[in-house]
Amino acid sequence: MKTLRWENKTLIVLDQTKLPSEEVYRRCTSWREVREAISVLAVRGAPAIGIAAAYAVVLAAAEIQAGGSEKTTAFIAELEEIAASLAAVRPTAVNLHWALRRMMKAVEAESAAGRTPAQITTALEREAVRIHKDDIAINGRISKFGAEALLEEAGRKRLTLLTHCNAGALATAEIGTALGVVRALHEQNCLERVYADETRPLLQGARLTATELYADGIPVTLITDNMAAWVMKTKKVDAVIVGADRIAANGDTANKIGTYGLSIAAKELGVPFYVAAPTSTFDVSMQRGEEIPIEERNHDEVRQIQGVPVALKDIAVFNPAFDVTPHENIRAIITERGVIEAPAPESVAKFFTV
Ligand code: MRU
Repeated sequence: MKTLRWENKTLIVLDQTKLPSEEVYRRCTSWREVREAISVLAVRGAPAIGIAAAYAVVLAAAEIQAGGSEKTTAFIAELEEIAASLAAVRPTAVNLHWALRRMMKAVEAESAAGRTPAQITTALEREAVRIHKDDIAINGRISKFGAEALLEEAGRKRLTLLTHCNAGALATAEIGTALGVVRALHEQNCLERVYADETRPLLQGARLTATELYADGIPVTLITDNMAAWVMKTKKVDAVIVGADRIAANGDTANKIGTYGLSIAAKELGVPFYVAAPTSTFDVSMQRGEEIPIEERNHDEVRQIQGVPVALKDIAVFNPAFDVTPHENIRAIITERGVIEAPAPESVAKFFTV
């Protein structure tokens, strides 16, 4: 199973809405198809969305150029509009916005160097491939730093972990962030077991995390979300580890709805709570978690499970896709550049200035 592939000017994405029962791939040859794949969560997870959006910009540039746009200013204006429309699809996952900004910066640099739209399009493809490849290397470094940090904290024993949503291979270019750490521990024979929350409403934990860990022979036990605190207490969970969608300058972290509640339970039980994320998930333009926009999704995601009604069809619903964990509840944030212990405004600022 490969989350994302770029082949012959086509982005091939594994349709995650069909997992685990079917392995179906969507072939996106236009930026609109990529936007659609992101919006229905066929491709999801902050880093994977960023990579997909970068390829969407390549497809958009090729389309504008094929439409006969010779003028660089008109080409850029159209590309900017498309980038804004892609960014709007998932407002919380900042890697999407980060990747789009990086692509538009490449456009600016190429146009400042006097390149034509055709040449800019070629440069954009190189940039998207770089973003994709970089993510593989980033995941590798996060997993190394993370495994070391967790083993150090727990006194070098086999660890029992708990995770939420999917911050794995299906959410990134390769091994994942939080699940990259899990994989590294398993490789070192230091993993006892991972408990995976099912993650209502869309069941990323049940459908994706449990599936990808099981496929790799990693000991995983699926639980429903309301079991997490009890499992932490009774199954001797050594640490909770999750991914992130956006991290503010003070370390407050937006991640899949339910993460905040887990952090409260972990604090109460004295279980260290870790966030694993690339530095591109930081949005230091936001001082505190309260500033992070929270995506709200279709109410039927709550009224139904996999299309099957479980509530009255017009019952009132609230469906925030993410919540914010205050930095006080986080033991450390693990990045590809190292570990931020006890994240707070000072420690995060220091990390980014060194
Ligand atoms: O709505 P999703 O499935 O895109 O939410 C994903 C998460 O919340 C992940 O934990 C996060 O993006 C980190 S992925 C490495």
